[in-house]
Amino acid sequence: MEMEEAPTYAASMAVPNVQEMVRRDPLHVPHRYIRSEEERPKLSQPSHLSSQIPVIDLSLLAIGDNEELSKLDLASQSWGFFQVVNHGIAEDLLNNMKKFSVEFFQLSIEDKEKYSMPSEDIQGYGHAYVVSNGQVLDWSDALILVVHPTHYRKIQFWPAKPDGFKEIIESYSNGIRKVAQQLLVSFSLIMGVKEDVILGMHKQLVQALRINYYPACSMPDQVLGISPHSDTSTISILMQDEDVTGLQIRHDGSWVSVNPIPNALVVNIGDVIEIWSNGKYKSVEHRAVTNEKITRISYASFLFPHDDVDIEPLDHMINSQRPIKIYKRVKYGEYLRSSMKRKLEGKVNIEMTKY
Ligand code: OGA
Ligand code: NI
Repeated sequence: MEMEEAPTYAASMAVPNVQEMVRRDPLHVPHRYIRSEEERPKLSQPSHLSSQIPVIDLSLLAIGDNEELSKLDLASQSWGFFQVVNHGIAEDLLNNMKKFSVEFFQLSIEDKEKYSMPSEDIQGYGHAYVVSNGQVLDWSDALILVVHPTHYRKIQFWPAKPDGFKEIIESYSNGIRKVAQQLLVSFSLIMGVKEDVILGMHKQLVQALRINYYPACSMPDQVLGISPHSDTSTISILMQDEDVTGLQIRHDGSWVSVNPIPNALVVNIGDVIEIWSNGKYKSVEHRAVTNEKITRISYASFLFPHDDVDIEPLDHMINSQRPIKIYKRVKYGEYLRSSMKRKLEGKVNIEMTKY
């Protein structure tokens, strides 16, 4: 078989580098970043529900523990988000990923711009999902890389500085991939299919990394680090900084912070599982807020199917509980690319696949 070429994803408009903007003028927040009243985060009113976000022990899932599987089932239905502990990735590796990333973002803008995202794709250092001049912008910069399969890599965007960063990205991503594969086995089991079925349905388990850099913001109650959205992935796995909160999820109409647990990973259900499960498991809307004094970095890994895969509810997930097929069949590559032609905005993409 001939080797398939690395796919391109979508164009995004060039916008200012936020880190550089803040470095030059820390107190100024340009108009383009200011949210409407309804979108502004209410930072002074934290939700008491944060402590109820489920925590799942991956080592128990790995031995097929039924109680843990039923926790996963409930978490995926009612929250769409959970934190994972005992995931097996060495603490040193997590810390190195953080340390090298901090050093990367500390490089001069000239150094970082060697990896600038080209206008026609979203790999590299820059901004994704910017599609119109009128769009309110997110208070963040990002480094986005496709890491698996290896022939999808665009190695010109992998930072040569700091020395060793590429290898750390590779090891970290391999660790995340193992966690993802275990979770997909568990999702097969709770969806009532043989353990390798969900992974197999990807044809190729594609994996991308997005390192988000959220500079401190002098007006954190008027901007967002990342706009509300659901992920177009099958699942996403996020490592957060420990000393600062930022991620919030929409739960029963209010925004709930996902407070960091040391060494835990945050997992969320993406649109693909919502579709495969015919809506049983929820791809929940989330956003990131900024902080007045602290810069935050987050490390998001997205696992998703090959472009050619047709996505639609599994036959047996259309059952007495959900007797109507809610989502239309869609080619995953088209789903992903059409999502990238829109700004990040709630659950617009998945809404469009509904009958
Ligand atoms: C994302 C995302 C949240 C965060 O990158 O898709 O939702 O806390 N990030 O950075
Ligand atoms: Ni997200």
